[in-house]
Amino acid sequence: MPTTLHSPLDMHLHLRDGEMLKRVAPLSAYTFSGALVMPNLVPPVTSKEEILEYRSRIIKAIGNENFVPYMTLFFQPTYTREFLESVQDEITAIKLYPAGITTNSEGGVSGFEIGALRPTLEAMSELGIPLCIHGETNGFVMDREAEFVPIYESLALHFPKLKIIMEHITTKESVAALDRFENLYATITLHHLMITLDDVAGGMLQPHLFCKPIAKRPEDREALLRVALAAHPKVMFGSDSAPHPREAKECPGCAAGVFTAPIALQMLVELFESNGAPIENLQKFISDNARKIYQLTPVKKEVVLQKSPFVVPEIYDGVVPFHAKTTLQYTIHTVI
Ligand code: NCD
Ligand code: ZN
Repeated sequence: MPTTLHSPLDMHLHLRDGEMLKRVAPLSAYTFSGALVMPNLVPPVTSKEEILEYRSRIIKAIGNENFVPYMTLFFQPTYTREFLESVQDEITAIKLYPAGITTNSEGGVSGFEIGALRPTLEAMSELGIPLCIHGETNGFVMDREAEFVPIYESLALHFPKLKIIMEHITTKESVAALDRFENLYATITLHHLMITLDDVAGGMLQPHLFCKPIAKRPEDREALLRVALAAHPKVMFGSDSAPHPREAKECPGCAAGVFTAPIALQMLVELFESNGAPIENLQKFISDNARKIYQLTPVKKEVVLQKSPFVVPEIYDGVVPFHAKTTLQYTIHTVI
């Protein structure tokens, strides 16, 4: 029986710029209806002009595919209400990075005192602009996300009308926070549903599984799987597909990021099926929940997946994908 997914959405995607954009954008645009595009370029996307120019480079890179890039701005506590009003129609969310926490985040926020953030966050709240957060402290690597939960909670309490999306959650603590605050939501990646730290560093070091936040413990992965497979209404798929050239991964000082965009749907179907979760739940996780949370009407795209072996390519134009060279059970049959 083929499986059909309707208008899949990737609510956290790195499309990069320049040559890399040209290589990776068509891969997402082929199977997804749209994606929330991260703003951590060098320099980051912080002005209306930069949003418009970046969007037109993306549109050019995807060619004829029916795909909407949902644009984001890189959060700055200096954004005024006037500025936000002027860019509101061009963006879907604003992404906040703690300074220096991950790739190209040097210009991020260096403290979370509510007073300093209040004017911008209040304006976002009033204008209905969601806030996406990379929630990690600069503490011990395994504890960074759990340590950030009190910051999520404080923001959720102080700005009860602001939609706050905990990006790429990896811990049971973040999962638990979802149900404590009405205005907290989350994205979950494919790789964090599949791997733990053991897969990254338990045997020989696997640079292509190294990302921020790092994969955690089995009980964390279990907690993520539980809400994803049940299609918890506050969670949505966000691949955090983060391509880096092979040379930047297979070297000392390996860049953080897992490249999953071209194989995400195939693997998700297999994952849901092997865990006995109904395909309707995958439809919610991959599209319907995001439509409700972000109030989006994605372009129509039907992705038909067929149960027949698909060997993941060793490399996509210089970028090594997640699970390269392994055989998956599902392949993309048609996209209409
Ligand atoms: C991302 C990147 O490479 O831009 N890397 C990653 O490990 N996920 C940045 C990010 O989302 O943290
Ligand atoms: Zn990311």
